[in-house]
Amino acid sequence: MTHAWTPQSWRKFPVVQMPNYGDMEKLAQTEAKLADFPPLVFAGEARKLQRKLSRVAKGKAFLLQGGDCAESFAEHSADNIRDFFRVFLQMAVVLTFAGGKPLVKVGRIAGQFAKPRSADMETRDGAQLPSYRGDIINGIEFTKEARVPDPHRQIMAYRQSAATLNLLRAFAMGGYANLEHVHRWTMGALKDSPFGERYDELAERISESLGFMRACGINPDTAPQLRQTEFFTSHEALLLGYEEALTRVDSTSGHWYATSGHMLWIGDRTRQLDHAHVEFFRGIKNPIGLKCGPSISADELLRLIDVLDPENEAGRLTLITRYGVDEIEKHLPQLLRAVKAEGRQVIWSCDPMHGNTISAESGYKTRPFDRILGEVRNFMNIHKAEGTHAGGIHVEMTGKNVTECTGGAFALADKDLHDRYHSHCDPRLNADQALELAFLIAEELKKGQSDSDLSGIAAAE
Ligand code: PEP
Ligand code: CO
Repeated sequence: MTHAWTPQSWRKFPVVQMPNYGDMEKLAQTEAKLADFPPLVFAGEARKLQRKLSRVAKGKAFLLQGGDCAESFAEHSADNIRDFFRVFLQMAVVLTFAGGKPLVKVGRIAGQFAKPRSADMETRDGAQLPSYRGDIINGIEFTKEARVPDPHRQIMAYRQSAATLNLLRAFAMGGYANLEHVHRWTMGALKDSPFGERYDELAERISESLGFMRACGINPDTAPQLRQTEFFTSHEALLLGYEEALTRVDSTSGHWYATSGHMLWIGDRTRQLDHAHVEFFRGIKNPIGLKCGPSISADELLRLIDVLDPENEAGRLTLITRYGVDEIEKHLPQLLRAVKAEGRQVIWSCDPMHGNTISAESGYKTRPFDRILGEVRNFMNIHKAEGTHAGGIHVEMTGKNVTECTGGAFALADKDLHDRYHSHCDPRLNADQALELAFLIAEELKKGQSDSDLSGIAAAE
């Protein structure tokens, strides 16, 4: 691709998974308005994230990325954000202690609104309507009016993202993320878990380490790192008009940055080499992700890497693989070999959600916990065998006690799914399942720790 890039140049390329807005004038007015709104994040923050991610690429840090499948307007509340952030921090503490490496925390939040769909139309009881594409585009209610794409929703999504980000920044910096509190919450949550004992050893180690540090005079009053945390935002940048409007030149570097979130990713359905999404992404300087499902070949992936990360910058590109527990072994090794042979510095992260979705007998879309854990375990074993770094995980989760994924320590069954199935899109891990997953992955990380390079600890940023 040798043609000049601009924030608009994607418009000349074929595009999939974008809504058909009827009222083009209203759309243009909305985009013009967004282009005048303040950025949600700063280029300097995106650069900082990339620096942290560059350590993940080198195997010296681990990436935890997670949050809702789709954020919604209806569920925008302080409680939801706080509950998500709490369980996310708990997972982070568990993974940091087990892995002995810095953890890079990236939420699927404050912008995760637009959804790709497998079908353009949805049929219910013989009636057919356009599919729901996320609250930034149309409404989830199965009515003709709700399903019309409405540009004004972009303004609402922007404002919601700003408010969410504001609270997250306050939580991250204002004392809520104090490591000692987070550990205490984690201990409380485990008390009620049927598998609590299994986690005791790790929880005990964390307590001991905190006690030791306190005895050495290192506590939240003396070391700000213990009472604050660095948290970044991410989403699938599907709705390109919205993203374009929020793409700005950084006055420090002169580069273009998407300012709708720190990290953006390309979905598995929109990663065609000669299409609009890849064109847009190649020009923004943020750290970016690329979802890789069963249909991507090693050859195609290498060509995408050439376009998306021509300078081979560590931390620029995260490959988020999502095969399913039974498929990963068939696909991942050849990609790892091809990318390694080319000397590409990518991050490999495992999304164990999107390849493990099944239809339960009750009719609900669900994801069995064992399959999710199984894919992460396979992912780690494959990396070990290939001599590459298992860099992180990417999960759909919520801080609420929903009933969307089956299994886990509380053995959630198919018959329980109807109880609190609240997702606007895919089934998410609930708070217990998310923390349990972190503990079980921690066990894997601990196993791998003895033979891995631990020099990253001292150099934590
Ligand atoms: C998602 O992450 O919600 C998603 C749609 O994933 P994928 O593009 O991998 O299917
Ligand atoms: Co999803």
